[in-house]
Amino acid sequence: MTAYGEHVCIVRVCRDCCCGTERKHPGVDHDGLLARLEADTRGHARVLRSDCLLACDESNVVVVTPSPAGRRAGGRPVWLRAVLDDAAVDEITRWVRLGGPGVGPVPDPIGRRAFAPSGLALSWAAV
Ligand code: FES
Repeated sequence: MTAYGEHVCIVRVCRDCCCGTERKHPGVDHDGLLARLEADTRGHARVLRSDCLLACDESNVVVVTPSPAGRRAGGRPVWLRAVLDDAAVDEITRWVRLGGPGVGPVPDPIGRRAFAPSGLALSWAAV
């Protein structure tokens, strides 16, 4: 048992040199998307901000790390690209509320958004 619960995922939201910036993604309400994600996953995930995850070409990057129960069931962190609008946030929220990685099949919208990070990104993020 963890301090946050057996069924609580971690959602790591990149906010650094590219992700979350007006320079790279003008007109996107980055703060609003983060607030929506935090509010709608409350009780199901801890939402953390991250420094650059070394996958800037895929920005905005979000990594969903399984809950302890999901990890025991075989779930592994899933890296998601282009989280730039309400629809993307809502896809993540729905999945996390269903249990996230390791708990049931990966929904199609999440699978289409997922990408394999580089080895460097993986070692840097250590998720
Ligand atoms: S700023 Fe997000 S991957 Fe680089």
